[in-house]
Amino acid sequence: MSKYRESGMPSEDIWEGYYEPEVILRQLKVDKRVDTFVDVGCGYGTFLLPASRLVSGTAIGIDIDRGMVESCRKKAIRDGHNNIIAIQGDISDDSTTSILKSYSGSIDYISLFNILHCENPASLLKVTHSLLNSDGMIGVIH
Ligand SMILES: C[S@@+](CC[C@H](N)C(=O)[O-])C[C@H]1O[C@@H](n2cnc3c(N)ncnc32)[C@H](O)[C@@H]1O
Repeated sequence: MSKYRESGMPSEDIWEGYYEPEVILRQLKVDKRVDTFVDVGCGYGTFLLPASRLVSGTAIGIDIDRGMVESCRKKAIRDGHNNIIAIQGDISDDSTTSILKSYSGSIDYISLFNILHCENPASLLKVTHSLLNSDGMIGVIH
């Protein structure tokens, strides 16, 4: 599989200027009731990093782009986010979902932030739903 269609992601400083991530995350109910939070297509870590401070357990970021994943890892270490796991992988690929299935039972929030413009959004929602606890939530922004 491949990277989903991009609408042209701007440079990090411009992208970060678009959002108040913590405000958005709180509005979308990302809080201590969330154990494992999974950010699909975590990009620069705009939401992953603040989310890791809001949830009670682990914040997992997945991105197909190795550079994005490395950048998230470095920022997590730099800022002392000890509960972040950044994984390089394609969310539509079985090898990636099997890693996430090892967290089965604890994933109660999956964010699809600025990624649902992909070629097959229904398939992305289906995969996401299959990973989620029965009372879990999917957060979408676009
Ligand atoms: C528009 S950016 C959004 C980044 C982040 N969610 C945010 O809102 O700040 C989309 C991200 O999804 C990643 N992506 C695209 N296709 C993917 C796939 N099939 N599996 C995992 N990540 C993917 C891209 O590399 C990119 O970092």
